[in-house]
Amino acid sequence: MGLDRTCKEFALLSLKLTIIATWVAAQPKPECQSNCGDISIPYPFGTGNGCNISSNFFIRCDTTSNPPKTFLSSTDIEVLHISLDGYLRIQQLVGFDCYNSLGRSSYGESFSLLNFPISNTRNKFTAIGCDTYALIEGTLGHTYSTGCVTFCSDVEDVINGSCSGIGCCQAAIPKGVRNYVLNFDTRRNHSNVLDFSPCSYGFVVEDGAYNFSVSDLSNVNFNTTKFPIILDWTIGNQNCTEAKLDPKNYACKENSVCIDPENYSCKENTSCINPGYLCKCLDGFQGNPYLSYGCQDIDECGTLKPCNETATCYDVAGSYYCSCPEGFEGDGQKNGTGCSPKVKSHQSFPTLLVALGIGILFSLLCSSWVSLGLRQRKLNKLKQDYFQQNGGILFREHLSRYKEYGETAKLFTIEELKKSDKQLP
Ligand SMILES: *[C@@H]1O[C@H](CO)[C@@H](O)[C@H](O)[C@H]1NC(C)=O
Ligand SMILES: *[C@@H]1O[C@H](CO)[C@@H](O)[C@H](O)[C@H]1NC(C)=O
Ligand SMILES: *[C@@H]1O[C@H](CO)[C@@H](O)[C@H](O)[C@H]1NC(C)=O
Ligand SMILES: *[C@@H]1O[C@H](CO)[C@@H](O)[C@H](O)[C@H]1NC(C)=O
Ligand SMILES: *[C@@H]1O[C@H](CO)[C@@H](O)[C@H](O)[C@H]1NC(C)=O
Ligand SMILES: *[C@@H]1O[C@H](CO)[C@@H](O)[C@H](O)[C@H]1NC(C)=O
Ligand SMILES: *[C@@H]1O[C@H](CO)[C@@H](O)[C@H](O)[C@H]1NC(C)=O
Ligand SMILES: *[C@@H]1O[C@H](CO)[C@@H](O)[C@H](O)[C@H]1NC(C)=O
Ligand SMILES: *[C@@H]1O[C@H](CO)[C@@H](O)[C@H](O)[C@H]1NC(C)=O
Ligand SMILES: *[C@@H]1O[C@H](CO)[C@@H](O)[C@H](O)[C@H]1NC(C)=O
Repeated sequence: MGLDRTCKEFALLSLKLTIIATWVAAQPKPECQSNCGDISIPYPFGTGNGCNISSNFFIRCDTTSNPPKTFLSSTDIEVLHISLDGYLRIQQLVGFDCYNSLGRSSYGESFSLLNFPISNTRNKFTAIGCDTYALIEGTLGHTYSTGCVTFCSDVEDVINGSCSGIGCCQAAIPKGVRNYVLNFDTRRNHSNVLDFSPCSYGFVVEDGAYNFSVSDLSNVNFNTTKFPIILDWTIGNQNCTEAKLDPKNYACKENSVCIDPENYSCKENTSCINPGYLCKCLDGFQGNPYLSYGCQDIDECGTLKPCNETATCYDVAGSYYCSCPEGFEGDGQKNGTGCSPKVKSHQSFPTLLVALGIGILFSLLCSSWVSLGLRQRKLNKLKQDYFQQNGGILFREHLSRYKEYGETAKLFTIEELKKSDKQLP
């Protein structure tokens, strides 16, 4: 058992050493710009010169502003955060539609053409105003249009913090939206609510990133506000099965797995944009799955300290194990059975004796039973042999010939004789 463990340890250790030897630790591609201001740029994103996986993943860093600003591709869409979990946080200005006593005074259409779809699960289309029809429109293979309405006649009716149709409304965003335009309409040009809600505002916003405040209705500078939006990014336009067939361009590197985006359906229209795929480090590994050896083994022993203090922790590729000291047993885990002293031999001696005693007794019983059976069988065989040797068969045949004259003679078996013997006085 000791040898077995040593062998296992050695094998795992040598595997780990190979991985470490070939491992290049970096979030961006080596020799690529790792961040723009305080926004980090992990590969597959990059600032050109082979640092981005494709032109969709190009990041433009504008160093003329202070702090530097990060933009997506060649657009003016500002990036706030890039996550390797397949999302991107950008920010966009709100759309607005303002009125005075003469009618519409200013209008700002918010529109976007995006490389990646807006996450339908992590954003909401939100509109505020008291005479507001707000629509979000775009193309999604076919054109789509959705939105919400919000009305109120008195500022007293508006509940601060509640976005439920009075002063504020929300709508879900369809799946796969990559472009949109915001449109507004009113019933009475805000004429009856001009004093507290001269404008309608509309924006797509990350879930939870906006809390409706009554004061936003009358805030004429609200149109300078920018809100975060979550985009879902994926690699290419193939699913995992298809992507693996092209190893040269397959983006998932060592110690990683390919993931298909959840619930993606292309059934409605065959010309819809294909989902693409994501990569994820295997369990027990962390880092950038898009870089060669970017997924690094997690040192569980050092970070989690998962073993009982008496046990020794061994970090192996993708995992770890705890080993109890000599004379102890258990899984060695803090969360598990820990290490407890092995059951001592003097404690087990009496039980062993009893067990041994029962065993011997049982086997004795067994063997005597068997030998008894054997002896019985031997006896029977002997009887039969004697019967045959002493002309028993001939005698029986001879007897059967007299059967036709009535049952004058009978060959008694030993059992029958025994029975008759008992019946005798
Ligand atoms: C990175 O993006 C730039 C700008 O869009 C593009 O010219 C370049 O081809 C991209 N790199 C790769 C490897 O596609
Ligand atoms: C709203 O204002 C527009 C001009 O901006 C005007 O043409 C229209 O008649 C107005 N509608 C109402 C209901 O006042
Ligand atoms: C799919 O969408 C395209 C436009 O993007 C359209 O021309 C085509 O007819 C649609 N096909 C189906 C089956 O709806
Ligand atoms: C919105 O309100 C919730 C709870 O009231 C709070 O946790 C959250 O931080 C607020 N969000 C913003 C953007 O203010
Ligand atoms: C509404 O709530 C916000 C915080 O969510 C607060 O700053 C504001 O003062 C409140 N307005 C009123 C009128 O209560
Ligand atoms: C906000 O609206 C005002 C007019 O109400 C306009 O002058 C200004 O340009 C708008 N700001 C933006 C960022 O659109
Ligand atoms: C991947 O795409 C191919 C072709 O579009 C399709 O036949 C296959 O079912 C897809 N696989 C998965 C797991 O979605
Ligand atoms: C995927 O579909 C299942 C069932 O249809 C649903 O419960 C789940 O919330 C969906 N996930 C996403 C991210 O849409
Ligand atoms: C131990 O279990 C708790 C909850 O049961 C969990 O939160 C913790 O991460 C576990 N620790 C280790 C080292 O597995
Ligand atoms: C280590 O294991 C022993 C025996 O199971 C247990 O008594 C002790 O509490 C464990 N220590 C920790 C830190 O879990």
